[in-house]
Amino acid sequence: METDILPVDANQLGKLTITATADEASLVEEWDIEYEPGQAADSLRRAAREIQETDIPVAFPTETVYGLGADATRSSAVRAIFAAKGRPVDNPLIVHIHSIPQLRSLLPGAGNAGADPIPEIYKPLIRKFWPGPLTIILASGEGSPLAPEVTAGLSTFGARMPRSILALALIREAGVPLAAPSANASTRPSPTAAEHVKDDLEGRIRTIVDGGPCEVGVESTVVDGLSHPPVILRPGGISLEQLRQCAGWEDVVVGYKDKHEQGIKPRAPGMKYRHYSPKATVILYEAGAKAPDIEEIATKGPYKSVGIVRTKTWSPTLGHSMANGAASALTTSAADEIDTSLAPLDSSRSNLLRAVTQHEVPHATHSLLASRDERPPISVWDIGLGRSTQGVARGLFSALRELDKKDVHVILVEGIDDTVDDDVAAAVMNRLRKAAEIRI
Ligand code: TXA
Ligand code: MG
Repeated sequence: METDILPVDANQLGKLTITATADEASLVEEWDIEYEPGQAADSLRRAAREIQETDIPVAFPTETVYGLGADATRSSAVRAIFAAKGRPVDNPLIVHIHSIPQLRSLLPGAGNAGADPIPEIYKPLIRKFWPGPLTIILASGEGSPLAPEVTAGLSTFGARMPRSILALALIREAGVPLAAPSANASTRPSPTAAEHVKDDLEGRIRTIVDGGPCEVGVESTVVDGLSHPPVILRPGGISLEQLRQCAGWEDVVVGYKDKHEQGIKPRAPGMKYRHYSPKATVILYEAGAKAPDIEEIATKGPYKSVGIVRTKTWSPTLGHSMANGAASALTTSAADEIDTSLAPLDSSRSNLLRAVTQHEVPHATHSLLASRDERPPISVWDIGLGRSTQGVARGLFSALRELDKKDVHVILVEGIDDTVDDDVAAAVMNRLRKAAEIRI
């Protein structure tokens, strides 16, 4: 099967109108697109038709990562997602919806007049963070239109309204809720650009809707408000502090574990459950750990080629002088200079309006590190993600994939402080701890 990348410029799609919420029940702003005739709208419709008429899943951009979508109400289509990714069938999928009425139609008691099937606990979150990087867990059960494969046998399902206008438009055009995991091959880092999807799924799917690099870069926050107190099941694009500011969520607890394995812990290759993993061995330096000595690490490995992902404090190539001149080691990468901060947390800017900005993917700089003795020089690929936490989140998976393409043997990653709860640092460190074979 040929895999096509279909570039769709969100700005060429047509005229987007956003209407403020008129009544209490609508919860989110309403939007509409008046499609311009042309390539962008045609490509989007082609993708929607493929979802309706075939069982081959379609990859599409969201503001977090690229998703691999199929009709969530059709078992054969949902099974094909698991097959394309090589995903274990006991891991449930998130259902993506484009409107509140579409969500209601999936909930038990949807047909009953009177009571709203959306639990009250979620309403403050929906009003504030949807469309956006938040997934809520809801009851599924008897009579649900969802294919049982979506929930992997659980009595609940995860729902999310993404804020990428391409994602929203695709779901609406397809006319069905889309079950969609991240569009990577199972165990690989999540894809934050169309090329990443192609690298993993070429020949297994037909269409990748290319909306450019993702805005957030880490997946949605998954919350369960059906338990008391409510729980964060996965950290993501909405922070603990942001959740705590919502009524009913002041006491939200962290229900995932990623800090207990502190310390240097080499695990037997092939014996562990890999996640978010590039081919190279990842060594994660927790915030505050001493920066590594590249030569020592290269010698010990032994690793001929070393990748570095810098965040807030490490200097380019860790301050080593390079055999091919100090210039490349001393210039700061562009990412360090770009202000990647997004709108502040309390921004009244529409969630939808944040969906059309374009972002850069990080690139690696190469240099050769001369050995202290007779050994050949060490090849070093260096990427700086800049000092803003949001910039680090946005570039993280892309950086790991870029270094894999350079065939480095080991990737040294500078972790960030996740003890503050007001940004996406928890999500960044959660993914890195899962990707790392060694933590320092
Ligand atoms: O940002 C995102 O959430 C992306 C984009 C494509 O929307 N999707 C994504 O999907 O990350 P996936 O399949 O890679 O991760 C889904 C997460 C998993 O951790 C899964 O266990 C959890 O959501 N999940 C789904 N349904 C659940 C349920 N009923 N109960 C608990 N966890 C659930
Ligand atoms: Mg995933």
